[in-house]
Amino acid sequence: MSDIKVIEREELKEKPQGPIGFGQLFTDYMFTMDYNKEEGWHNAVIMPYQNIEISPAAQVLHYGQAVFEGMKAYRQGDDIILFRPDENFKRMNKSNARLNIPEVDGEFLLDALQQLVRLEQDWIPSGQGESLYIRPFVIATEPYLGVHAATEYKFMIILSPVGAYYGDDQLMATRIYVEDEYVRAVRGGVGFAKVAGNYAASLAAQTRASELGYHQVLWLDGVEQRYIEEVGSMNIFFVINGKVVTPELNGSILPGITRKSILQLAEYLGYEVEERRIAIEEILSSEYVSEIFGTGTAAVISPVGSIRYKDQEVVINDGVTGPVTQRLYDEYTAIQEGKKEDPFNWCLKIK
Ligand code: COI
Repeated sequence: MSDIKVIEREELKEKPQGPIGFGQLFTDYMFTMDYNKEEGWHNAVIMPYQNIEISPAAQVLHYGQAVFEGMKAYRQGDDIILFRPDENFKRMNKSNARLNIPEVDGEFLLDALQQLVRLEQDWIPSGQGESLYIRPFVIATEPYLGVHAATEYKFMIILSPVGAYYGDDQLMATRIYVEDEYVRAVRGGVGFAKVAGNYAASLAAQTRASELGYHQVLWLDGVEQRYIEEVGSMNIFFVINGKVVTPELNGSILPGITRKSILQLAEYLGYEVEERRIAIEEILSSEYVSEIFGTGTAAVISPVGSIRYKDQEVVINDGVTGPVTQRLYDEYTAIQEGKKEDPFNWCLKIK
């Protein structure tokens, strides 16, 4: 596939004034391309953001063949950067492979994404903690009610200017509910893949947790319901005895790009880091757990102020952001916002 057709819109939307929240505003344009067996991926178009038409029999609506990604673009003075976008397209292809969706061409998509973000650069907010959230996704569009890997797909990228994921304050300490009935994923399943169904499966527990006054659910492993996995919208980290510790990737945890970056950054800053199995009772009983925080593209680094498991509630660091979390947040966002040198080459400047 070579050229990307551009369909211009007649009028641009009003840009938002004031707080922008998360994921409710969408820019003027989007990218789409289609797949069929004869042509492979084809029909790449940048077009005005609009509703799409799919058949009521489209396979995604019945059997859930849907994969997505989340990444961000930042303003760095006069430059615009994408943060580790190659990692997202690599992960998307791993998710695609698991759901039997055809591979996408990461290099082509990176070019397409740069073209789209360049066109939409006025939508990149520059306030504290703000960025342009990028949502690539792929859905099965073949109209067929038999269960098989679809032969037709649509890939799209939409863009949304965003602020903090939880409330107005990026460093608001969240309250976490440890789910002890449902599980998110099992080994050999799709837990490691960024598939829509993982998020659908989390919602009953998420709703129950939020009715009880918690922001998020912490998932335990699907076999013993004992080992900590992830939060669903974030990976999870603990500061134990001064060491930065996170559950090891085991096939049922999402290999977060922020997770990977924070492990690299923490080590670079001189912290000892460790990826290992972490039992929930270790966290509840240890006087050495001084901080907990989540990591994710949307959540960035989000401190956890308390954690509830069954009838036990443990407050962490008096319910406020701890020094390690704060330092990692400051250093990480300084790299993303171009305020500090990027020793890892994570920021891709848009040409
Ligand atoms: C992201 O962090 O980009 C995600 O996809 C998580 C989602 C729950 C917003």
